[in-house]
Amino acid sequence: MSTIATSAQAQAGTVTDDPGAQAPLLSISHVERDFTSPNGQRVQALSDVSLDVRPGELVSIIGPSGCGKTTLLRLIAGLDKPQQGSVTFKGRPIEAPNPERGYVFQQGSLFPWLTVRENVAFGLKAQGKYREHAGEVDDYLAKVGLTGFEHAYPHQISGGMAQRVAIARALIDHPEVLLLDEPMGALDSFTRADLQDRLLDLWEQYHMTMVLVTHDVDEAIYLGNRVVIMSPRPGHIKEIVPIDLPERDRVSDAFLGYRKTLLTKLHFDVHEH
Ligand SMILES: Nc1ncnc2c1ncn2[C@@H]1O[C@H](COP(=O)(O)OP(=O)(O)OP(=O)(O)O)[C@@H](O)[C@H]1O
Ligand SMILES: [Mg+2]
Repeated sequence: MSTIATSAQAQAGTVTDDPGAQAPLLSISHVERDFTSPNGQRVQALSDVSLDVRPGELVSIIGPSGCGKTTLLRLIAGLDKPQQGSVTFKGRPIEAPNPERGYVFQQGSLFPWLTVRENVAFGLKAQGKYREHAGEVDDYLAKVGLTGFEHAYPHQISGGMAQRVAIARALIDHPEVLLLDEPMGALDSFTRADLQDRLLDLWEQYHMTMVLVTHDVDEAIYLGNRVVIMSPRPGHIKEIVPIDLPERDRVSDAFLGYRKTLLTKLHFDVHEH
């Protein structure tokens, strides 16, 4: 499957068009995960899910509510384990959460009693690294555009700003992979577009690997090198669409073509069940 990188990435050699050229960073292989719902019914959240993510890739995952997106991200984070199949990072099974895999949660996860700065510094303090790295807290706050809001509390900032704090908090650990569960879900389209561009800047700057869960077709195309379409009951990967955009332009013919393709596939999916 071909993956088209941004020019910055191509120069850095982090992504190639040859899938055989690089070992996957993350490998999800034939994963099964079910749950028992509160009324005793078995829910097959993931059924035979396999996906390889290469270093430097930005993979979008899209699909209707309940198709297993968060379940999959939690397995990659090490917050949960599959009943069958394997999830590996650099060839090693993922056993527990690790700062090398940063997680930005679906819902606001800031500590309301800590300031913006204290929220970002929290992990460093817990790991006893704060003294050495205190300056980085301000650097990352600047990178997400929050200089001047260091001493605000979460209730004093907007939803978009809160998500930027959550992203800075994950980045401060220098993760190799950033897992994002609908980080822009609750934002208006202007704030969303701004945050998408900031995320792309960070991705290019740090040559990071990102796995982004989203409900939004435009966002999946705009950000992703590939779009993974998931489908529910049981949760599985229906199709993977490689994205090859000559430029990141939300109204180009190429972009609108992908939009039509994906909407058709997702619409069909809704009527399948
Ligand atoms: N801890 C759990 N206990 C019982 N059922 C669960 C649990 N976690 C997930 N499920 C079920 O597994 C299925 C997949 O859930 P998941 O949260 O992964 O979906 P999702 O694709 O992230 O949905 P959304 O887009 O609404 O966030 C759902 O049917 C959900 O009810
Ligand atoms: Mg979810």
